[in-house]
Order: sequence, then C-alpha cells, then structure tokens
Amino acid sequence: HELALSLDEIEKGGYPHFMLKEIFEQPRALADCLRGRLNVENSSVQLGGLTDIMDRLEGAERLIIAACGTSWHSGLVGEYLFEHLAKLPVEVEYASEFRYREPLISEDDVMLVISQSGETADTLAALRTARERGALALGICNVVGSTIARDTDAGVYTHAGPEIGVASTKAFTTQVAVLTMMAILLGQKRNTIDSAYAARLIRELNGIPEKIEKILDHSESVKNMAELFTYAPNFLYLGRTYNFPVALEGALKLKEISYIHAEGYPAAEMKHGPIALIDKMMPVVVIAATDHTNDKMISNIEEVKARGGRIIAITGEENSEVIDLAEFNCPIPETEDCLSPLLTAIPLQLLSYYIAVNRGCDVDQPRNLAKSVTVE
Ligand code: G6P
Repeated sequence: HELALSLDEIEKGGYPHFMLKEIFEQPRALADCLRGRLNVENSSVQLGGLTDIMDRLEGAERLIIAACGTSWHSGLVGEYLFEHLAKLPVEVEYASEFRYREPLISEDDVMLVISQSGETADTLAALRTARERGALALGICNVVGSTIARDTDAGVYTHAGPEIGVASTKAFTTQVAVLTMMAILLGQKRNTIDSAYAARLIRELNGIPEKIEKILDHSESVKNMAELFTYAPNFLYLGRTYNFPVALEGALKLKEISYIHAEGYPAAEMKHGPIALIDKMMPVVVIAATDHTNDKMISNIEEVKARGGRIIAITGEENSEVIDLAEFNCPIPETEDCLSPLLTAIPLQLLSYYIAVNRGCDVDQPRNLAKSVTVE
C-alpha cells in the first residue's frame, strides 16, 4: 500500500476547493467503499478484514464505539444500525471522555474506533485503554497503514481516497456505509435480520452511489438557497432517529467552515430549550427522511412555523406533506430509513460549503482547525 500522495492525487481536479471536489467525489468514493463487499445476487456482505474475529464479534455482549468530531457522528448512526439490525447493545463515546473515565470494559466487549486519519490522539488512547482491559479492538479508518489501523485487532477500510479539506465529507458517508455493511453482516450472523429485509437493504445500498449522484445534480438549487441564508447569525438542525446524528453533522459542518453558530438537536428536544430561540432570523433545517417519524416531524415543523422560523427541509422527493410546509426544499431520492443518512448528509455539506464561500471563508483551511489532531 502506498502512503504518500502523488501531486496528481492531491490537486483539485478543476474544483475551486478540495471540499467541493470531495463532496462531488462521493458517488465514486461510496462505490469504491462498497465494491467487492456487497453481493446483490446472493444477498451477502463480505468484509475480509473481519473474517478472523467474526466469532468473537458475533458473541459480543456489547459494542462500544469511540471517535471524535465527524467520526463520532458516524458512530452515532452506527448505534442505530447495530441495535436495529444486529440487536447488539451499543454505546457511543467521545474518545476523549472514555479514556479519562474509569471505563467499564472487559473481554466480553468489543471496542470499535472510527477515524478518518487513523492518527487522532484521543481516539488512539481510547483504543489502547480498551485493549489493555482485554476488549476486542476494531477500527474503521480511511488512511491505510495509519497508527489506529495498525493498532487494532481487525478492521475495515473506508477506501474513500485522500481527504484533504479539513471539514470531513466523503469520510463521513463512507464510514456510515461501512457501519451499515457491518450491521447487516452481523445481523445475518446473529439471525436478527429478516432475510427479505436484508436482501432489500443490500440491493438498496448498492444503488446509493447513483442516488447521491442525483442529489449532486441539483447542487445549483442548494447554491441559490445558500445566497438567502449567508448572513443568518444562527442555524438550528433537527432530525430524528437515524437523522439525528446527521443534524449534528450538518451543524458541525456549518460551524467549522462558515463560523456561523449552529446547533443540531433531536427534533423532539426542541421544546426543551431551542424553541425559545426561534424567530424569523432563525433558519431551521429539518431532516425529515424517516417514514416512521414523519408525523412527528410534521408537528415540529408546524411549531417552528408558528413562531416565525424559516424551514429548510431535507426530505424524500415524494414527501409532499413536508415539501408543502417548508419554505425551501432539498428533495432526496426515496430509500430505506436506515440508509437515509447516506443521502441526507449531502445537501447539508453543500449548504455549508456555499454559505462559507459566500462569506469569503477559507473553506479548506478553516481557522483554528486541523485535519488531524495528534495532541490530546
Ligand atoms: C478533526 C477534524 C475533523 C475530524 C476529527 C476526527 O477535528 O477537523 O474533521 O472529524 O478531527 O478525525 P479522525 O481523523 O479521527 O476521523
């Protein structure tokens, strides 16, 4: 494996910023991530890196996921996936908090660390703490041969290709794709997933790169919308279940590169605080892309509108109820609820990118941030 990046690989390929290039690379990055791992014909998932430890993973009592930043958000999506598909109890930890507690973790547990760079100091320390206590240590990394990749017992690479922009984009969606494959595979092994449902998920996951392409075809409308919100002082992002972590990730992207204060919240928690902030200056991004919580999201939208808030909806292209209520829409192709983060994240990346560009921010090198944080 080649660690050094060639000049060709790191150039922007005609895009003004690495971040935009990396956003647009996602159909390819996802295809690379899924390639050779999904078999649609016989409804199976193959993750070679996990073969040797599969028995231990299958019998695990608990999975602990530790990560930082965007990788922590993908870990949260992972929690919903593993609980839903593999009926495995999951805890998601900020790596930095995990290591400074007295974590209760033993040989019966599995620690899964997620890191794009594979070099984040806190994540590495959490991994080492878990290993000292006998837990099986797994990793999801992008950088091949990185320290975390080398220090784990087993793992899965995301194969997203080099990510240069400080704000993580394709690393997030490929991490979520790996977590989805792991959860389906484990669900099949543990017999917790209905075979027709597994077949449907595998087929649908295989078609995700094409659906991302469709979303990117409409980037111009996100760009136009960004014009209207460039000078908003605050943003609120709301989501439920699988899209609650996407709300956090959307808010983080905006903070990181445009320096606009933004918060992500589980939609139902709005009434316990953030609702006090809502007025006509407050754009509220609603990620309404899971069927079983749609009615609840609609009432949240109505509560925001009743207080003069402005709704930007990220929702299924057939969800006319939400589309009719929202002031702006980013329609996404229909998919299974548990796969929706792979699609809903895309318009949020674009929105933060275009707002940051309008504000004249240094998109690829935002102030005070580093691509990989190797200090504790
Ligand atoms: C830094 C980067 C983030 C990243 C986080 C974790 O804060 O700016 O984009 O999500 O580190 O990095 P990792 O490489 O461990 O995923």
